Amino acid sequence: MLLGVNIDHIAYLREARRVNDPDPLDALPVLKKCGVEQITVHLREDRRHIHDEDLYSIIKNAYMPINLECSLADEMIEIALKAKPSRVTLVPEKREEVTTEGGLDVKKYFEKLVKVCERLKYSGIDVSLFVDPTLEAVNLASELKVKWVELHTGTYANIYAMLYSNLRHTHNSIKELELDKGKLHHLLEKSIKELINTANEAEKLGLLVAAGHGLNYYNVKTIAQIENIKELNIGQSIIARSVFWGLEEAIKKMQEEIKADR
Ligand code: PXP
Repeated sequence: MLLGVNIDHIAYLREARRVNDPDPLDALPVLKKCGVEQITVHLREDRRHIHDEDLYSIIKNAYMPINLECSLADEMIEIALKAKPSRVTLVPEKREEVTTEGGLDVKKYFEKLVKVCERLKYSGIDVSLFVDPTLEAVNLASELKVKWVELHTGTYANIYAMLYSNLRHTHNSIKELELDKGKLHHLLEKSIKELINTANEAEKLGLLVAAGHGLNYYNVKTIAQIENIKELNIGQSIIARSVFWGLEEAIKKMQEEIKADR
C-alpha cells in the first residue's frame, strides 16, 4: 500500500498566526526519511492553507512525486500546468466548506473534464479524479482515460466515527441520522461494500485506485485491506497526531497501520 501524506494542515497552523512557522517545506526531509511515496497538497481557491509559493517550492525541493489537488477552475488548471506536479487530482470545491465534502460530479462536468484532462495529460501530468465510490463515476473516469481515481472515504469515516469513537463527524446526511447503532452498522457495511465494488470495477477498467478523506489510526485498517486500493492519501489525522508524537512517529505509526495482511 502506498502512502501519500497531505501536508495542508501544516500550512493551516502557519496561517493561524500569519507567520512563516511552521513551514510545510520543513516537512520534506521527514517525509523522505520515512519513505513516504508521495506528498499531497491542495491549493484551494481561497488559499486558506497552501499558497502558490508553497506549491512551487515543494515541487522544486521534494524529489518525490507531488500530487496537487485542485478544482476545475481555469485559474487552478493554469497553475497546475505551470507547476507541473506528477499528478493532479481534480476535486470539487466550495468556498464555505470546511473540507472537501464529496466527490467530483463527473457527469455534470464531463465536457469540461474532457478538455482539462487532455491538457494535463498532454503536458505529461497524470490525472486523478476524486469521486464518490459509485460505478457510474469510475465508468465515466474510464471514458476520460485518466490514470487514477481516488475514492472518497468520507462517508465511511463519518459512520465509523459515530459508531466507534468520539471523533467529530461533519457529513450532513449522517448528522441527520438518529444514533441508531443497528442502522449505523448496516450503513458502515454498505459504505465498505461500495468502496470494494467500486475499486474492483475501476481495476477491471484499467484504472489505478487511490482512496482518502477522513482516514485515521482507528478506521484505516479496513480500507488498507481492500485489495484493489493501491494508495491512501492521508492528512489531518497524521498532522494532528504529530503535535503529540512528532511527524516522524505519526507517519511511522500510520505506515504500520496500513501494512495490511491482505
Ligand atoms: N484526498 C483528497 C482528494 C482530499 O481532498 C483530502 C483532503 O484535502 C485528502 C485526501 C486527505 O483527507 P484528510 O485530511 O481527511 O486525511
